Amino acid sequence: MASSSTASKPKWATVNTTLPARPLPLNSCRVPVTTDRLIIRALDAQDLDSLHLIRTQPEVMVNHPQGRIDRDLDETRPKLDLFLPPSDASHYNFAICSKETGEMIGIGGCHQLKSMFGWPAMGYMFRKEFWGKGLATEFTRAWLDMWCKLPREEAHIEVDQRSVPEGEGKVLEVMTAFTTAGNLASQRVLEKSGFERFLVWEEADLRNPDVQITLVAYRYFPSKQLAN
Ligand SMILES: CC(C)(COP(=O)(O)OP(=O)(O)OC[C@H]1O[C@@H](n2cnc3c(N)ncnc32)[C@H](O)[C@@H]1OP(=O)(O)O)[C@@H](O)C(=O)NCCC(=O)NCCS
Repeated sequence: MASSSTASKPKWATVNTTLPARPLPLNSCRVPVTTDRLIIRALDAQDLDSLHLIRTQPEVMVNHPQGRIDRDLDETRPKLDLFLPPSDASHYNFAICSKETGEMIGIGGCHQLKSMFGWPAMGYMFRKEFWGKGLATEFTRAWLDMWCKLPREEAHIEVDQRSVPEGEGKVLEVMTAFTTAGNLASQRVLEKSGFERFLVWEEADLRNPDVQITLVAYRYFPSKQLAN
């Protein structure tokens, strides 16, 4: 997996758009959302063991920039702390739990309010036992709905022009996501959830900088959902 800080040859431009109003709701104010099979709720310090279980599955971490499993709980702890108070206004990331058992089976949402394209970015990881059942798609659709329902404010931000459709005037707000070219499952999840592909590029693989890796970027337009 490549760095999340650059996309080769960005073309920066300052645009007028919208974004969810800051500060984002703190964890303590996030009301759990229930879907057919999932509960999407705020992350909590007690989720450490569950997050560790996810992050110690090689099949999950092979697609992560870290490229390896966490060594121990002490390596997982700061990864969870990123999403707990006092850092909870800087993300919209959630625990994904089985509605049937209550156990945390994944983590997902917006982990980065300013990604390599200047826009927020979303992502997800599920424990391998829960793959292939449509749960990531169920989560992504529900989470996008939560994101779209956040109150908006005007924003004047720098973005990579390749992430926005060409045109004059105010730019439609974008949510981004990116995957390795080989992660077909994640690409399918994004496409089934309303994302469209806008860029494919190559850069050094963080897991082995001597190797070039192909990455695929996706965008989603919250205002199009709001208009429906
Ligand atoms: C990516 C991930 C979230 C997918 O979760 P999931 O719950 O299995 O996803 P869903 O079941 O909702 O959808 C997967 C889709 O991809 C398809 N798919 C899975 N593997 C595929 C493959 N090798 N080639 C083509 N399509 C594939 C499935 O058939 C399904 O599409 P369908 O519903 O049209 O049949 C899960 O594999 C995961 O956690 N991986 C590790 C972390 C990760 O890669 N995160 C994303 C980083 S960008």
